[in-house]
Amino acid sequence: MKSFTLLAVLGLVGYASAGYPFCKGQFASTTQHCTKFQFTKRAPPCVNTANCTTFYDISGLPDQGIDDHTAKMAQLITNVFENGNTVMGYAYVENLKDNRGLTKPPRDQTTFRCFAIVISHKVFSSPPLLSGYIGFTSGTNDAYTVVQEYNKRTNNKNNLYKFTPELARLSKLPFCDVKRGSVTKLGQPYFKAWEKSACTDPRFVETQIDVGRSMYLHPALKFAASVGVKSNIGKAFFYDTIIQHGWQFVEPLINIRRIIKLTGPRGKDSEQAYLIRFLNTRRSLMCCFPDNVWPPSADRVSDLTNLINSPAKWARNKDLKNPVNLAVYGVTVKGTENMNYDSSNCKKYKKSRGWSLPKGKSLPIPGSTKTCPK
Ligand SMILES: *[C@@H]1O[C@H](CO)[C@@H](O)[C@H](O)[C@H]1NC(C)=O
Repeated sequence: MKSFTLLAVLGLVGYASAGYPFCKGQFASTTQHCTKFQFTKRAPPCVNTANCTTFYDISGLPDQGIDDHTAKMAQLITNVFENGNTVMGYAYVENLKDNRGLTKPPRDQTTFRCFAIVISHKVFSSPPLLSGYIGFTSGTNDAYTVVQEYNKRTNNKNNLYKFTPELARLSKLPFCDVKRGSVTKLGQPYFKAWEKSACTDPRFVETQIDVGRSMYLHPALKFAASVGVKSNIGKAFFYDTIIQHGWQFVEPLINIRRIIKLTGPRGKDSEQAYLIRFLNTRRSLMCCFPDNVWPPSADRVSDLTNLINSPAKWARNKDLKNPVNLAVYGVTVKGTENMNYDSSNCKKYKKSRGWSLPKGKSLPIPGSTKTCPK
């Protein structure tokens, strides 16, 4: 979903993050701290794909599971950062009225990276569209994957079906083609259909959850396993990282694999020590990123670090069995929240009686030719 980062780099503003409250001290964007990230003033060339996927091949990474309660905690914690509260944003859509999509209070600003492209890159007439609880994006394959899967589960009888050809067309364009951001054939009607489906059809909610699991949660668990991270809270941290930074080789400057590399091997570190190092690297990378979009979101990493940076906190939070307090965001995640319905964005719809989600389905991790857009 965050596949437009590279283009957004065109809007470089220099190391501008000195003034951000969560980019101070060891995270200040000084040359000393930032050189290792190799950000340059010129945008690097866009990476096109030759193998029909934007994802790394992670088939060789070890696997591990996650229990239901931990998965729920991880999704809720990330939802707080993305949507500001513990109501899952299944029906979230940008408001297109002013043609900028910024009339709603923004979720985490990184979700709006694509807007930077519009400003800095005249070729894009409009930004791609973001919708759903983790910002499924029209110009990458993830919104297309959601709609395709929904079609399958409804026999093509659903409100979003008519947008399938356009999503397919966009997904088949070369990755660096700015026309991927085109919304002329989607726009407000697509958003309306998304919102309505999320508010009235439990199958669509379950589809979003299942695609989110296969595209982001399952890969996060593999990346975590590959560096020996097995604690419940570590799994949640990797999930949040992959949701925000992605795991795509077409974004070489910022993705979970780069953060793992820059963190360095775990060596003899305890898992707690390694995770703190990992979060510090992630935060530095954001603070050093030469734009005005990444540095402000260092606050979420501060909230995560704050859950484990003492022996007592580690003992309390490592299993995610207790409620966690996200201090900067001012929200406590309990794990008992209802995740079935978007009561925040569905106010104008009547919740159907007996609303309940169908059983989830496990989908393959993307990144093989099997998931190429057809
Ligand atoms: C696709 O190619 C890129 C670039 O060579 C590589 O990094 C990536 O792992 C490949 N992905 C798959 C699924 O083979």
